Amino acid sequence: MKMFVYSLREYDERKYFDDICGELGVEYESTDVVPTVDNISLADGFDVINIITCPIDEERIIRLKEAGVKLIMSRTVGTDHIDKEAAARYGISVMNISYSPAAVADYAIMLMLMGLRKLKYIAIRTIGRDYGLEGRLGREMHECTVGLYGGGYIGKTVAKELSGFGCKTLICDRHPDEETKKYAEYVDEDRLFAESDIISLHVSGTQENFHMIGREEFAKMKDGVMIINTARGLLIDTPAMIEAIESGKIGFAGLDVIENEKGMYYFDHEDRILTNKDFSILNGYPNVMVLPHMGFYTESAVRDMVVNSVIAANDYFSKGENE
Ligand code: COI
Repeated sequence: MKMFVYSLREYDERKYFDDICGELGVEYESTDVVPTVDNISLADGFDVINIITCPIDEERIIRLKEAGVKLIMSRTVGTDHIDKEAAARYGISVMNISYSPAAVADYAIMLMLMGLRKLKYIAIRTIGRDYGLEGRLGREMHECTVGLYGGGYIGKTVAKELSGFGCKTLICDRHPDEETKKYAEYVDEDRLFAESDIISLHVSGTQENFHMIGREEFAKMKDGVMIINTARGLLIDTPAMIEAIESGKIGFAGLDVIENEKGMYYFDHEDRILTNKDFSILNGYPNVMVLPHMGFYTESAVRDMVVNSVIAANDYFSKGENE
């Protein structure tokens, strides 16, 4: 099996690719850039491309087919960046991997704590040497009800980690899990919205979930609710969220992801004009923490992304897809 890796980061991924590919005898080449229609020729003659969250649309899929690629391996949990129907039409398989769920779970809880302790506002004021207390009064986690929307492996990990804080945890998921019942109460969407002081999203970025949180849903939530999104930007209707922040319905938003973030995050834009207006608006509010989609970014998760993606691709070719 020959693998071509896109968006490979020298500073944290290279050593893991070298080690696992060496161990399994997988031949690989790489580039640090994302796949474009023009550079897919780099993958000519390779069986698999290994990517992160760069868009793979039908045009790129046609080029991949011409290049002889049989598998698109995304070293990510989400696959919303890939046109999977087009891949199926052209007979190219798509796979993803999982990695340490604590990476994103820890990050979601960090954002909750930042919101409870008004950390963005405090950090901004501290840079200007304003060490006053007024306007910085915080709240404690154990006094809160936290609602987790989504009980997949990340949502479940958040529930378990939160149990140490002594808060009440609600979770909304169609597939209740016995172990998670020890840490959280399974409820329906309406109860989650009505009772939670903090709502954290842990569902995937499918078309079915597009704008699952909008005007109607915000109206069902408590005034001053905290919204945490470490999953996908498309889950929230951004203009509706901006309205809810301006009206005070949302007291704090911790957003590791926003709509239309592709092409913006993971690059240095210091000397460029950013055109994502929603990003600029959201980033300007003192009670909104916008972070560049880094929940996944821990040593363990990065190692898992590389190692698990190479093992899964190797198994796909050596054992067959369904074994
Ligand atoms: C995923 O694994 O789905 C992520 O969101 C992380 C990715 C941006 C590297």
